[in-house]
Amino acid sequence: MSSSSTSTTQRYHQQFPGLVNKAYFNFGGQGPMPKATMEAIYRAYEYVQQQGPFSSKVNDWIQQELAATRGAIATELGATTETIALTENVTAGCNVVLWGIPWQAGDHILLTDCEHPGVIAVVKEIARRFGVRISTCPIMATLNRGNPVGVIEQYLQPTTRLVVLSHVLWNTGQVLPLGDIVQACHSHQGQVPTQVLVDAAQSVGSLPLNLPELGVDFYAFTGHKWFCGPAGVGGLYMSPKALETIQPTYGGWRGITVDSTGLPKAWKADSRRFEVATSAYPLCVGLKESINFHHQWGDATERYAQIVKNSEYLWQGLSLLPKIQCLRTSAPESGLVSFRLKADIPHQQLVQALEQQGFYLRTLVNPDCVRACVHYMTLPEEMDQLIRVLASL
Ligand SMILES: Cc1ncc(COP(=O)(O)O)c(C=O)c1O
Repeated sequence: MSSSSTSTTQRYHQQFPGLVNKAYFNFGGQGPMPKATMEAIYRAYEYVQQQGPFSSKVNDWIQQELAATRGAIATELGATTETIALTENVTAGCNVVLWGIPWQAGDHILLTDCEHPGVIAVVKEIARRFGVRISTCPIMATLNRGNPVGVIEQYLQPTTRLVVLSHVLWNTGQVLPLGDIVQACHSHQGQVPTQVLVDAAQSVGSLPLNLPELGVDFYAFTGHKWFCGPAGVGGLYMSPKALETIQPTYGGWRGITVDSTGLPKAWKADSRRFEVATSAYPLCVGLKESINFHHQWGDATERYAQIVKNSEYLWQGLSLLPKIQCLRTSAPESGLVSFRLKADIPHQQLVQALEQQGFYLRTLVNPDCVRACVHYMTLPEEMDQLIRVLASL
């Protein structure tokens, strides 16, 4: 790493109060907010109070800010503003899609074996209510060899209406070849069209993205992980074609147009039909500020290049330790570096002991491992310190 780029990164690192006095490796759980984001949120609350809080001036300002936030997100995803609905988090976006599809008894949903329990729970409830069948395909085993596209193709059935998968697997850090998977699903010759819902918890804010190019139908994400925005604001991308295939199940005044008597006329024509009602709008201002902050460091491609440079550095250092076994046998393609401890210490105990020493990591249950996440602003010395402490086990 060149010293000039290190000093720039050091300056960025200092802008995160949450990164001070610790070595933080939990970006995949929650990103820390830059000072600028916290200030923007405070200023937004102050403005709302000074001007209203309910006034035509504030209401107009809210509309402008929501549009600007959708716009900032859309630019990051290579998409247009109309395709983005603001939500609260990843799970809320997945719920919009899962409850919005007109399920028929006998339909089939395909999940991978690396999905988040919150999403699996909703899929199971859909299955229970509508007589939909679920199956799970073994993607985890393709981390180091094998073909995830082939696995998914093998599990598609004539009635597979939806495939639910994560772009970056939250446990192993594997990046799935999403474009190829989408193509395989869309060209599947079944009795119903097969759509793809992506859990983008670990990809938005970390991978450079062009969603229209990937061809994905639904892409649900959050601002509070790799974007380092406030908890409570996320979004859902829907391709214009996919938008026409689902209906709001849980709706409200933000999603409708009204007639001259003030009564509901229709759902809005674009993705905003899935936004519901009053929200903590200043948090949207915060997410926009976080996106802007990252841009000042570099574009999404540059940030991703630094993320994988960092994860390779950490992975290499960990791979040399006799008591550590990284799940990946080659350098990771994401900022998630998962490893097992060969020593006789439970992972949870290790993570708790590390936290007491100022190192923030997490455990995962399946596969049983520890996950360290690195972002573009992670410093080499933080990774060195972590490698050193793990070497001393
Ligand atoms: C893959 C994955 N999906 C879903 C979630 C839940 O995210 P949210 O709380 O934003 O809904 C997480 C959070 O850790 C995750 O890693």
